[in-house]
Amino acid sequence: MNIILLGPPGAGKGTVAKLLTEYDGSVQISTGDMLRQAVKEGTPLGKEAKSYMERGDLVPDTLIMRIMEERLAQPDCKKGFILDGFPRTIPQAEALKGLLERMGIRLDMVVNLDVPREVILERLTTRRTCSDPNCQEIYNVKSSPPNPDGTCKKCGSLTVQRDDETEEAINFRLATYLEKTAPLISYYEKEGILKTFLSLSSKETVEEIKKALHRKS
Ligand code: AP5
Repeated sequence: MNIILLGPPGAGKGTVAKLLTEYDGSVQISTGDMLRQAVKEGTPLGKEAKSYMERGDLVPDTLIMRIMEERLAQPDCKKGFILDGFPRTIPQAEALKGLLERMGIRLDMVVNLDVPREVILERLTTRRTCSDPNCQEIYNVKSSPPNPDGTCKKCGSLTVQRDDETEEAINFRLATYLEKTAPLISYYEKEGILKTFLSLSSKETVEEIKKALHRKS
């Protein structure tokens, strides 16, 4: 499958994407994870992205398109991909459209995860993420906690809170989402490939997405 996951910060895009990869072997492509890795490694991309990310702002479109063009050209994407956190702006969506046309790739569906704001705020303040860049398993201290000593159940590394999980950055991310990313909902509605799911249970949402994909094929 080739799908895009849309949704505000904390909607569960990463959680749903990881579950979907188990469905047909499609790869999860998270621009957020790629950028955090670059920041951690101190690469030129990471150095440029760091200040935007810390305050919860979007990284410039040109930078994102550079990493996405490279990523989508990698052979593992032939199995299908789940875009998690990309596109985030209308210019990114337009650039992606051109890129996929040039590559001869068709999008199967754009999934919009709809979650009430109070649930989002609760989820973001209670999220923990595995610090191992090769694992990055997502936990929630309430709904799906890591080991009692705070380590990852999958790889044993310490789980941590992200740098953009301060109250100030969370509010800024939500405002940025409304201004710059929410317009993508009507953009993809017009393209006729948008499906919106009220996403309170990630497992149920994944089952609904699978059914919707099945109906399309
Ligand atoms: P990114 O990493 O994409 O962050 P985000 O969109 O803000 O999304 P999150 O990762 O915070 O949330 P999520 O929806 O994946 O939720 P999760 O599954 O973790 O981007 C970070 C930054 O990078 C941006 O601010 C920007 O600076 C930059 N960036 C990235 N892409 C960019 C782009 N394309 N252009 C420009 N800049 C870009 O779930 C959240 C929590 O809820 C977890 O604890 C989870 O366990 C829990 N949870 C999830 N589902 C459920 C459920 N059903 N029930 C109970 N708990 C649940």
